[in-house]
Amino acid sequence: MAKPQHHVFVCTQNRPPTHPRGSCGAKGSVAVLQAFWAEQQKRQAYEKIGITNSGCVGPCEMGANVLVYPEGILYRGVTPEDVLEIFDSHLEGGVPVERLLAPKAAW
Ligand code: FES
Repeated sequence: MAKPQHHVFVCTQNRPPTHPRGSCGAKGSVAVLQAFWAEQQKRQAYEKIGITNSGCVGPCEMGANVLVYPEGILYRGVTPEDVLEIFDSHLEGGVPVERLLAPKAAW
């Protein structure tokens, strides 16, 4: 397996509905993860882009959160509709999607 150029971690942490921190899972992150996998498959980008689900990455209240390495870019409030733009702009084009960036205080 080749070393990917980018590795995307989608937080799929779940917590009970009454938990004060909430969770990305409760905000639809599994659908986001599936959208990333579907786009990876469509583009046959298995060698270039790794996509992995993860546990909590920190700022739960902003989920669904997506972390991209090697840059260490954190996207917040990601929906399945945002995945195509992240692929085109960031993962393929090298330009992070500004409107989805987590505030500096969060990351
Ligand atoms: S549950 Fe996703 S960042 Fe905490």
